[in-house]
Amino acid sequence: MIFHSDTSIVTIDRFIIEQEAKFPEATGELSGILYDLAVAAKMISSKVRRAGLIDILGAAGSENVQGEHQQKLDVIANLIITKAMDHGGRLCAMASEEEEGIIAIPPQFRCGKYVLLFDPLDGSSNIDVNVPVGTIFSVLRRITPGTGNGTVEDMLQPGFTQVAAGYVIYGSSTMMVYTTGHGAHGFTLDPSIGEFLLSHPHIRTPERGKYLSVNDSYERYWSEPVRALMRRYRGLDSQREPMNVRYVGSLVADFHRNLLGGGIFVYPANSKNPNGKLRLLYECNPLAFIQEQAGGACSDGRQRLMDVVPTELHQRSPLFLGSKADVETAAAMLQAER
Ligand code: AHG
Ligand code: MN
Ligand code: MN
Repeated sequence: MIFHSDTSIVTIDRFIIEQEAKFPEATGELSGILYDLAVAAKMISSKVRRAGLIDILGAAGSENVQGEHQQKLDVIANLIITKAMDHGGRLCAMASEEEEGIIAIPPQFRCGKYVLLFDPLDGSSNIDVNVPVGTIFSVLRRITPGTGNGTVEDMLQPGFTQVAAGYVIYGSSTMMVYTTGHGAHGFTLDPSIGEFLLSHPHIRTPERGKYLSVNDSYERYWSEPVRALMRRYRGLDSQREPMNVRYVGSLVADFHRNLLGGGIFVYPANSKNPNGKLRLLYECNPLAFIQEQAGGACSDGRQRLMDVVPTELHQRSPLFLGSKADVETAAAMLQAER
């Protein structure tokens, strides 16, 4: 490894400690959650890296609560996060995209003042074809009184109340990006030493983007305003330069590219799926928090996404997530739908 003389080596643990020290009132509990998540991410990364070598490829034969086919690695990643996070005394409940109800803290462990929501393996249908997958997480402060287990009510809070959020991308390298509301920071896993090292401090996304990520095989189900918006992004109405269309089909991978390069990820409502596909609590809110911290924006097509008050754990939401100017275009052009 070659270092420039002015390059500091900062591990994720060191960075979390230094961030916490800026807030004398911090109890260290949130930092503990982030450490534990980084450990879980390393364990999932090691499983994903070996996916083609050991017999964990392919479907596990069960369906998750959304009726989707569950892959073996989904089950493994879900278990790793649950087991890495249930005993630290910092959480009072968890919820996963892969489980119908909330995940209680086992009675032998202490409950804390936070709840964790996560998508253990995002883009899991891509595993069989060696395309990047990810993990997405969101941390909220409990709002119900008491010191025992948390409830669904603690989970159903708008995105702007998140105290931390982030994602891990298992791509050509493994990266973890998180925010606690003081910028979005990225860390790259050095597999030879097993440490996440600070590689992308204070990520800023371009004001206007070059990438458009959308699955346009749903075009025939879109409303006319959505079709007009897509023509705009492609430059077909001569109102802007055409964007480059890039769609991996793993939200984390599409999001990560667009965050760094600028652009917008779009998963609109359509006549078959009136709320789109992506889940507000496990996918949309955490990525919206990161995006806003990087100078971008996120809308559900009607309002700022993080202002939406959730009513269900597995609620879906239309998603317009990316560079500020491009999200503003969506909000303006979709007014016609209201
Ligand atoms: P998950 O694997 O967690 O169920 O998420 C899959 C999601 C997301 O990663 C991706 O952006 C989207 O599904 C793709 O959906 P389409 O195939 O409908 O475009
Ligand atoms: Mn997902
Ligand atoms: Mn998933």
